[in-house]
Amino acid sequence: MGVEKFGPVRVGLLGIGTVGGGTFEVLWRNRQEITRRAGRRIEITQVADRDVDHARRIVADRARVLDDAAAVVADPAIDIVVELIGGTGVALKLVLAAIEAGKHVVTANKALLAMHGNEIFAAASRRGVMVAFEAAVAGGIPIIKALREGLSANRIESIAGIINGTTNFILSEMRDKGLAFDAVLAEAQRLGYAEADPTFDIEGVDAAHKATILAALAFGIPVQFDKCYVEGISTLQSTDIKFAEQLGYRIKLLAITRRRERGEGPHGIELRVHPTLIPARRLIANVEGAMNAVWVKGDAVGETMYYGKGAGAEPTASAVVADLIDVARVLTADPENRVPHLAFQAESISDLPILPMDDVETAYYLRMRVADEPGVLADLARILADGEISIDALLQREPGAGEDQTDIVLLTHVTFERRVNQAIARIEALPTVLSKVVRIRLEELA
Ligand code: NDP
Ligand code: HSE
Repeated sequence: MGVEKFGPVRVGLLGIGTVGGGTFEVLWRNRQEITRRAGRRIEITQVADRDVDHARRIVADRARVLDDAAAVVADPAIDIVVELIGGTGVALKLVLAAIEAGKHVVTANKALLAMHGNEIFAAASRRGVMVAFEAAVAGGIPIIKALREGLSANRIESIAGIINGTTNFILSEMRDKGLAFDAVLAEAQRLGYAEADPTFDIEGVDAAHKATILAALAFGIPVQFDKCYVEGISTLQSTDIKFAEQLGYRIKLLAITRRRERGEGPHGIELRVHPTLIPARRLIANVEGAMNAVWVKGDAVGETMYYGKGAGAEPTASAVVADLIDVARVLTADPENRVPHLAFQAESISDLPILPMDDVETAYYLRMRVADEPGVLADLARILADGEISIDALLQREPGAGEDQTDIVLLTHVTFERRVNQAIARIEALPTVLSKVVRIRLEELA
């Protein structure tokens, strides 16, 4: 091939499951295009997997197959280690060992980076190697590159994303086809979207891992997963999905990170994942199935949005292979001038704190079951007014014949979470309020 000035880059692939299998196939199938783009061949020469027979069935005679991932990492013939095992146990050891051995690393492992990113990036900086992780957030969508490169002129103000394909798939299928939660989850697992432990998807942990990485990139702060507020979809009720629709909203599991350096309340970074009402007319409210979308607002560019497949073998492989090409391109470049891992220089880290949930500002959907008697609405309005919470909309279901209870749904204007917590405690203490208050946060995303 005429464009080649250098010999091949030799890659060791650790884990050939869903994403590893996709990566092997995409790199092989598109090898001519990829060589043209990278300026040199990128060859997976060694593959390690616990299940050697399964690995051999995929790889055939195209690479050496081993069951010992540490041996691949230690082999001087390997230039780049691709970690696609997952988790934070053996994967952490292998990634740190690869860095210590002076190898560049590509990974799709958001849990690993959200929990141990600071240690990994520090080790990589010391050794002058790259750690690339495009596939770790939003699968095939190049959102890391967008933030690190395309939007690098901007002061990022907010990011809101549907960044877990499994939960978006579950919410869409349940709403459109009326399917049961467990059946849709099983299908997401069959399609390779779900994490090894699917509670990570359902309880919002996977989205929080990704949001933590996005916040670090966007705001120049360290990765701080432990400060991310996380609420999943397991307690979401179909009643609320229907009420939200009547009010012109869709409910999505949204990851939100936002800079707050003006106005009332402490300044810092909001970092949170929770079911969220979004106006149905917004593009992001119409992102369905396993698709992901990330909305980014920068001071110069304004609003931008990135859409694509957030999970699955080849969409994720698309991002892994793009990272391999990037690493291959800069392998011979001056290490001092490589793009820093989180897009900012380690010595210029920002000390903006992650705000506690009490200090978060958003609007709210509140639903409660109440006794159908005079004075109930007046009590609710008084409690909200005492808390300086302004009501945006109100919906009261007509009680059925003979019923002496009904549901009230309230939408509030933007306020502080602490005020809403105090108001909910007072509302739940009213004798006429017969249920816990269902609270779902609401974002206009404008
Ligand atoms: P899989 O479970 O499908 O693949 C992991 C592979 O690694 C399996 O073949 C597993 O073998 C093997 N493995 C486990 N332990 C070892 C070990 N000690 N040495 C060698 N091989 C080992 O996971 P995925 O491909 O779905 O995910 C891989 C990573 O990519 C994870 O970090 C995940 O979060 C991330 N990711 C996944 C996406 C997706 O859509 N699936 C999208 C974006 C990121 P065995 O099966 O025997 O355990
Ligand atoms: N389990 C993840 C999801 C895989 O469903 O989005 C992609 O990161």
